[in-house]
Parts: sequence; structure tokens; C-alpha cells
Amino acid sequence: MRLDILTVVPELLQSPLNESILKRAQQKGLVEIVIHNIRDYTLDKHRQVDDYPFGGEAGMVMKPEPIFRCVEALQAERHYDEVIYTSPDGIQYNQHEANRLSTLENLIILCGHYKGVDYRVREQLITREISIGDYVLTGGELAAAIIADSVVRIIPGAIGDEASALTDSFQDNLLAPPVYTRPAEFRGWSVPEVLLSGNFAEIEKWQEQQAWERTERLRPDLLK
Ligand code: ADE
Repeated sequence: MRLDILTVVPELLQSPLNESILKRAQQKGLVEIVIHNIRDYTLDKHRQVDDYPFGGEAGMVMKPEPIFRCVEALQAERHYDEVIYTSPDGIQYNQHEANRLSTLENLIILCGHYKGVDYRVREQLITREISIGDYVLTGGELAAAIIADSVVRIIPGAIGDEASALTDSFQDNLLAPPVYTRPAEFRGWSVPEVLLSGNFAEIEKWQEQQAWERTERLRPDLLK
């Protein structure tokens, strides 16, 4: 997979995309992540990426020209399956969408900033608008990092233990069961007996019961 992220604040994306599992996935060649500073696609001497909105509202709007220049330069190189825009008014992001994106070949993510992007960008370039939740961030960079993280970690080979991504919460619309490690007893609190039993059929049954019980109690909406 190749993931191109367009931003006016590239610094915000450096650390989340270059540590831990995402770093290793790039080193293994499973994904190539390229961050583009939209300012590099301006032609004026002030390298201006935003301007006042028509209509006289407060705040600034991202200018269309450098974004079109950047996206079209990328599209001249290869086909992109989706051109995503991160915005609070997009469709709500979830595991189902992460799974879908992880099967695609080339993705562009445009990070919204300021009051948002000139609407012509959304009409002409964007194929998918994604929100990570009903709250407003200062920009779409953290949302793009969340999308990149959740997509890359489920690419086969990204996580050492292949099975582990499949047992995540939400993968089958159930929350994950509780997990424990050593010591088996800590301050008088014991690990559930069944997990120490070595009986894998029983352990699996217990985990499934726990997943259902926790989902019914904490997220009944997932079972609908
Ligand atoms: N940009 C600002 N808020 C956002 C949100 N909730 N999701 C995606 N992008 C955003």
C-alpha cells in the first residue's frame, strides 16, 4: 500500500507514523507513507496556503490551487483508490471502514485545517470524507494519523502475531475479552482460574462469553 498525506502541518504527523508498528511496517515494505507539505505546492513568494472566506465570516479557508497541484501531480504518477478528506462532517470512521481501506492499493488523505478547505476541492477531488467522531479537532492531522494507524496495523504481516489483529475489539462487532499477565495473583486479586487451566477449548468458551457479556453491558448498540 502507498499512503500520501497532504497537510499544512507535517510536524504533527511525524512521530505517530514513524514509531512502533507503523515504523516496522514501512521498514518491511508493507506500506509506503509519504507526507506532503501543501506549502511546497504554492507558487507565490509568501507560500500562502489559506485566505479569507468569501462572505465575510471569521477564520481562514485552505486555498484550492496548491491542493489541486499536489493531488494532480500524484495522480499523474499512479491511480488512487480513494482521495480522503478528514473533516468533522464526514462519515463516522469505524473498524469496518478501516478494514475496507486496508485492502486498497493507493490512498491520499488530505488533512483539513483552519475553517476547512475551499468547497471546490471537496466537490472535484475528494472521493470520501471521514470524521473520527462528533467533536472538533484543531486540524485533520490527528484524524489522518488515526486512520493511517488503524489501517496499517491490519495489513497482513504488520503485527507479529497474525491472529492478534483478528481478535481486536470490533473485528466481529464484539468488545475484546479481558486479558491478564503474570503474576497470577496480585495484591490478593487472582487471574480467572480457567485461564490457568491449559484447557484451550474452555478458555475460548470463557473468552467468547466475556466478549458477549461486556458488549451487552458496555456497547449494546454493537449487537443491533
Ligand atoms: N478535523 C477536525 N475535527 C475532525 C474530526 N472529528 N474528524 C476528522 N477530521 C477532523
